[in-house]
Amino acid sequence: MIIRTTIRTTIRTGTATTDPALRGPGAGQPSGPKDSVGMSVELVQNQGEKMRILFVCLGNICRSPSAEGVLRQLADRAGLDVTIDSAGTSDWHIGAPPDRRAIRAAKLRGYDLAALRGRQFTAEDFDRFDLILAMDRKNLRAIEALRPAGNNASAKLFLDLIAQTGSDVPDPYYDDSFERMLDLIEAASAALVTQIAHKKERHPDSDGAP
Ligand code: 4NP
Repeated sequence: MIIRTTIRTTIRTGTATTDPALRGPGAGQPSGPKDSVGMSVELVQNQGEKMRILFVCLGNICRSPSAEGVLRQLADRAGLDVTIDSAGTSDWHIGAPPDRRAIRAAKLRGYDLAALRGRQFTAEDFDRFDLILAMDRKNLRAIEALRPAGNNASAKLFLDLIAQTGSDVPDPYYDDSFERMLDLIEAASAALVTQIAHKKERHPDSDGAP
């Protein structure tokens, strides 16, 4: 049986937040704390199967493996059984470990990326995953260009989970911004775990899959 579910995240944001990507609609206005509504994700999924999530960036050595490691740990901690993977739209780093700067920054926050290896996103991933989360708009376009006719897997911008501002996770490969990358990834991953946990509450027999 196919389940269709729409999940939505609301996070509290306030003027103390300086990062535009972590602020929601109305960001920059001189008001007090406000709610920021992240995107609703509609997922089409077979009942009883665990949710399958794929993160995608360009090289699969910085942003997407970091997201894979962070979400895996947050989901584990929340007791959620979710399949998580990552891939790159390029073929530049197939078989390679994550960038050593990404491994180091993640390790300092308690995430272990060392065993991950790069692979390239393929059209078959649309069938293998229920939710494909792109790190930026350019990679989302590259993903959509490979979508098989008739496939309705959900492909979204990752940061739209926390605020629908169409924001990218900036690529740290060129400017060393691994701390900011992890801040964004942790916020969006926490929002996603909340969504999955709420879904599990509403549909206990669905193994937590939204
Ligand atoms: P990522 O970052 O897409 O977050 O993995 C990059 C990694 C490698 C390159 C570019 C971006 N590169 O040019 O090799």
